[in-house]
Amino acid sequence: MKICCIGAGYVGGPTMAMIAHQCSEHTVTVVDINQARIDAWNSEKLPVFEPGLDEIVAGARGKNLFFSTDIDQAIRDAEMIFLSVNTPTKTYGVGAGRAADLRYIEKCARKIAEVAENDKIVVEKSTLPVRTAESVKRILESNSNGRKFQILSNPEFLAEGTAMTDLQAPDRVLIGGDQTPEGKLAIQKLVDVYATWVPRERVLTTNLWSSELSKLTANAFLAQRISSINAISALCEATEANVDEVAHAIGTDSRIGPKFLKASVGFGGSCFQKDILNLVYLCEHFGLPEVAAYWNSVIEMNDYQKHRFSHRVISAMFNTVSDKKIAILGFAFKKDTNDTRESAAIYVCQDLLDEQANLAIYDPKVEVEQIQRDLGIDADHPNVSYCKDAYAATRDAHAILVLTEWDEFKALDFQRIYDQMQLPAFLFDGRNLLDLEALREIGFEASGIGKG
Ligand code: NAD
Ligand code: UGA
Repeated sequence: MKICCIGAGYVGGPTMAMIAHQCSEHTVTVVDINQARIDAWNSEKLPVFEPGLDEIVAGARGKNLFFSTDIDQAIRDAEMIFLSVNTPTKTYGVGAGRAADLRYIEKCARKIAEVAENDKIVVEKSTLPVRTAESVKRILESNSNGRKFQILSNPEFLAEGTAMTDLQAPDRVLIGGDQTPEGKLAIQKLVDVYATWVPRERVLTTNLWSSELSKLTANAFLAQRISSINAISALCEATEANVDEVAHAIGTDSRIGPKFLKASVGFGGSCFQKDILNLVYLCEHFGLPEVAAYWNSVIEMNDYQKHRFSHRVISAMFNTVSDKKIAILGFAFKKDTNDTRESAAIYVCQDLLDEQANLAIYDPKVEVEQIQRDLGIDADHPNVSYCKDAYAATRDAHAILVLTEWDEFKALDFQRIYDQMQLPAFLFDGRNLLDLEALREIGFEASGIGKG
């Protein structure tokens, strides 16, 4: 089968690389309007950093995996077309700040309607509001000219930083489609693709709307767990309870489970906030304001947590950080990715810049230009410098903020760092990554999240 994927981003690239890697009998072409991105996919330096991705791409590229900007040709050739374009929060018009912006998805549907010469199975891989498949179907069917289109929903559950292992051994693959004979046939075609390497019992099939809604619900539940433990972290700080101990104690209850209970400076990433806002908007649209308010509180708690962290830093440092050098260790929204979208670091840095602090930023994977775009600053901003490693960032610093849980930060020589800092040497661990007791023995004024 010839497969096409529109959108060569964090999802389209890795998912299609995995399908090509696992299914040598299928040919996969990933297309995008962004020429630079496609060029990067065809080069040695891929546009996405994910452990294990380079090897998989290198093994399949040019054999049964292709990256191209010739969108029309790829659509014409393919029997199955994945839509993996971005679905950001709308910034204009009705629903601005909450609803999903579906213009890219709609453009894809119109493009397929325009250029397809025969029947196609169209697979929604992007995260979409429930009932989007209805719009996609109407656009395709009103331009069908005798061609038949089946729409499937196949949301992606990979997390960045572990994308390749998530794709290799997913907890489940979800496929939604019409419950008609044609719909079931289309579902089966996609089941067969995944069944090449995913145990059949892990491939779940549902109707379209359940599949679309399950993706938003999964992200809302995951984010809710983080906001819940972060809420408790504030109470821990007030009561000398230790949030890591509380998380461990509750996580051993098999009904709660241990995962996603790590208190932090706040969740980031391109999807949690966007997808919950989308869910909130949908609930309001369907006349369910109480449900909307419930889920909105997950975002409110996350905003609170990010700013609470900045305020703790300022208050501990004698209520002023003006002109003080603050080392920022980590800018990505989590470890093992170069992605900074909605990273808590952006908000913390902005709070500190508002207080006229001098920031020395180091992240092992994030490009300097990306940090400047995120902070909305010019390259020569007088209060921000970019460092080649953690030692340079912390030299003469008044404080260290750990904002991403990169493994390399655990291996730093903190005695050496302490010896080159201003005293008292503050350290605020926004990830509960480091051994605070050991740091205090060196002399640091060290504090974590949710530790009294
Ligand atoms: P991305 O921004 O990295 O990639 C999207 C790509 O689509 C871009 O390269 C863009 O140029 C391209 N594009 C947009 N419109 C196009 C068009 N009309 N024709 C051709 N190409 C077009 O986005 P992403 O992170 O890969 O996310 C894609 C979708 O997957 C979103 O709906 C997101 O919510 C969902 N998702 C993301 C993740 C994640 O970890 N990033 C995980 C699960 C689901
Ligand atoms: C998340 C989901 O985990 C994926 O299943 C989903 O496919 C994806 O969103 C998506 O739809 O985009 P991702 O955002 O890549 O994946 O990464 P996560 O591991 O979920 O982390 C999100 C944020 O929460 C990070 O900032 C992370 O540091 C934070 N986090 C995570 C915590 O603060 N505590 C935790 O216990 C877990």
